[in-house]
Amino acid sequence: KQDRAIRPRMLDDYIGQPHVREQMEIFIGAAKGRGEALDHTLVFGPPGLGKTTLANIIAEEMGVQIKSTSGPVLERAGDLAAILTSLEEGDVLFIDEIHRMSPAVEEVLYPAMEDYQLDIMVGEGPAARSMKIELPPFTLVGATTRAGLLTSPLRDRFGIVQRLEFYNIHDLSSIVSRSGRLMELEVEEEGAQEVARRARGTPRIANRLLRRVRDYAQVKADGRVTKEVADLALNMLNVDAQGFDHMDRRLLLTLMEKYDGGPAGVESLAASIGEERDTIEDVLEPYLMQQGYITRTPRGRTATKLAYLHFGIDLPARFGSDN
Ligand code: ADE
Repeated sequence: KQDRAIRPRMLDDYIGQPHVREQMEIFIGAAKGRGEALDHTLVFGPPGLGKTTLANIIAEEMGVQIKSTSGPVLERAGDLAAILTSLEEGDVLFIDEIHRMSPAVEEVLYPAMEDYQLDIMVGEGPAARSMKIELPPFTLVGATTRAGLLTSPLRDRFGIVQRLEFYNIHDLSSIVSRSGRLMELEVEEEGAQEVARRARGTPRIANRLLRRVRDYAQVKADGRVTKEVADLALNMLNVDAQGFDHMDRRLLLTLMEKYDGGPAGVESLAASIGEERDTIEDVLEPYLMQQGYITRTPRGRTATKLAYLHFGIDLPARFGSDN
């Protein structure tokens, strides 16, 4: 995918997430200094914030190879065993969506993580026996949208846990400018900021929007990404001034208009807007909560005052008359 060309390859090119960067620089530097594999690392956070990118950077910085797979792809214990036995000393094994591994596969992972040992059953019936195979020291990098989705035995086996946060506009704007340079596209400072403001705090979205803004600039203007061109292009794409897209608006409007602002259970909301519950919880809700448009209560999701103000909808009486 073209995306790979603009991904940062080293920590030095990695913009934002200062805590993650600072910590990983130390942990990687220390492991390299000792000549050891880096401890197993769990990376969690909403989609598009750079979990895969970080896994690749870890491998690059450690000077090792990376083998990548994902929870749903590992159907049987043998699938994981095949990858584990192909690892060389210090290699990174990246498992995306690690919360979606089956229990049988997860069982194989525990001794592999803990003792670099593969415990596997071979054969069936009376001929079946268990085999132990020594593995070289390696680093498991696991990625998931929410740390709470992992079983605790799995979570406990990661020595390093990094949470990726939504990017602020300043960092996102630097990412857009950097991508513009790599795409040999002229992006004005204010053009980059406009894309950044409307990218839901998410580099993957910022880069996707930048490509569409580039198309627009090329056909409708002189190819330069100015604030005005970015604004027109993003309006055409139905991305609003807050960066909310069609689905964000649908969720918020449904909550306000159909559920009187909530609280509404996530299952009912999912049915109402025709989306998977997981999409609401992993993709839509985190940003809306971070921005203060939705809150989560034990009884369900609630729209905040900010949400009503954004859409110019009259505030329900429960917000009080003093506003
Ligand atoms: N592209 C995507 N995420 C990035 C990041 N954090 N830094 C630089 N470029 C990126």
